[in-house]
Amino acid sequence: MSTKIKRSGTFTDNMKLPIHRWFRYSAGFSAEWVEQEIIKYQSDTGNDAILLDPFLGSGTTCFAADTLGVKSFGFDGHPFVTRVAKAKSCWHLPAEDFLSHCQSILSLAETYSFNTTRHETNQLLGKCYSPGALQKLDYLKKAYEDLCTNDAVWRLVWLNITSIIRACSHAGTAQWQYVLPNKSKSKVIDPFDGFWAKALLMSEDMNHVQHIGWKPNCKIEELDVRQSIHANKCNLVITSPPYPNNFDYADATRLEMTFWGEIDGWGDLKTAVRPSIMRSCSQHSAGDKVILDELLSSAELEPIKDDIFKVTKALDEIRHTKGGKKAYHTMIAAYFYDLSKIWLNIRNATVDGAKVCFVIGDSAPYGIHVPAEKWLAQIALHHGFKGFSFEKLRDRNVKWKNRTHTVPLHEGRLWVEG
Ligand SMILES: C[S@@+](CC[C@H](N)C(=O)[O-])C[C@H]1O[C@@H](n2cnc3c(N)ncnc32)[C@H](O)[C@@H]1O
Repeated sequence: MSTKIKRSGTFTDNMKLPIHRWFRYSAGFSAEWVEQEIIKYQSDTGNDAILLDPFLGSGTTCFAADTLGVKSFGFDGHPFVTRVAKAKSCWHLPAEDFLSHCQSILSLAETYSFNTTRHETNQLLGKCYSPGALQKLDYLKKAYEDLCTNDAVWRLVWLNITSIIRACSHAGTAQWQYVLPNKSKSKVIDPFDGFWAKALLMSEDMNHVQHIGWKPNCKIEELDVRQSIHANKCNLVITSPPYPNNFDYADATRLEMTFWGEIDGWGDLKTAVRPSIMRSCSQHSAGDKVILDELLSSAELEPIKDDIFKVTKALDEIRHTKGGKKAYHTMIAAYFYDLSKIWLNIRNATVDGAKVCFVIGDSAPYGIHVPAEKWLAQIALHHGFKGFSFEKLRDRNVKWKNRTHTVPLHEGRLWVEG
C-alpha cells in the first residue's frame, strides 16, 4: 500500500492544499481522498452526490465537495472548531477586500502602545509567549475587536489571527496539538509578520480556487449530532468520528480559546465545549456520573450488549490494579451509546441505498481490546443499514518504545451500505 494511501486518514497532505491549509487540525483526514471518493460515487451510481459529514472538524469534506461544486452538509459540536470551518467557507469572498481588511487591522495594531497586555494574568498565555509576542498578538486582537462588524469578511480576518496563534508561541506542541508550555520549539514567528504573511497566502488561495472554478455549495452548522441532524436525502456520508480513547477534542483548541477570552483554563472546557461533543476520552466521561449498568441495559447498546458487557466489566476490574484508576469502563460504554444515537440520526438523514464511510481506529485502554469498527458496524446494521466491509489503512501502536500496552491496533475505513 502506498504511503499516500496510508496517509489518507491524516491531515498531513492537506497542508499543501489551498483553503485546507489555513488551519492545521491534526485530527483531520485527506481532502484529496474525499474528492476521489465523491467522483467515484458519482461515476458508479450516476447520481449527483449529496454529502453529509456529521463530524466535520475543520471542514475537509465540505471543501473537497466545493472543489467539485457538490452539495454538502457539515456539522460539528465543537463551537470553536465549527467557527474555524465556517470561516474557511468564506473562501469565495473577494480576495482584495479581505486583504484590505487585513491591512487596516495591521495599520491600527501598529498604532497601539498600551504598556501591559490584557492577558498578563492568564497563566497559560504567560507561559506560552514572550511579553513582546503576546503584546503584538493582543494588539491584533484589539484592532479586530475595534473594527469588526457582522460582515462575513471579518470571519476570515478572525481566522487569520487564530491560525497564527501557535506559530507565534515558543511552546511546543504534542502529537495531537496539545500545547506543552515547558517544551520549547526553535522557530517562532513575529505576530505582525505572521499575520501579514498569512493574509497574503489566504488571498492568494482565494484568488486561485475562484479562478479554477470551486463552487460554494456547503452548509456548515454547529450541532451536537446526538440531537437530530438537520439534513435529509443525503446519499453519501464521509466522516471520521472521535476514536475511542484517542484524543481529547475539547482540549485541542485550549490555547486559541484562551487567547480569545472564551475560556480561562482547562476547567472551563467542561462547560464551554464538553456538553456538545460525544464522550470519547476518560477526561470527559469521568465527571459525567455515568452509571454503567444503565448504559449497558439501554436500547442503544442492545446490538453489542454481550461483548461490551464483558469488556467494560474487565475494564472496571483492572482499573483497581492501576495507579490512575481511570474510568475507561464508563467511557467505553458512553462512547458506543453516543455513537448509537448518532448512527440512528445518520440513518434518518440519508436515503435508502446511501453509502457511508467512517474513518475509524480501535483501541485498547489498559491493554483490553475494544474492536471499534466491528461494534460500530453491528450498531449500524441494527439501525437499518444493510451491509458493511472494513478496509485497513495502517497499523497503530507499533512505533513507540514507551507504549502503555502491546495490543496491535489499526485504523481504516468502515464502509456501510444501505
Ligand atoms: C476526527 S475529527 C474530524 C476531523 C475532520 N474529518 C477534518 O478533516 O477536519 C472528529 C470531530 O468530531 C467532533 N465531534 C465530537 N462529538 C461530536 C458531536 N456529538 N456532534 C458533532 N461533532 C462532534 C469533534 O469536535 C471533532 O472535530
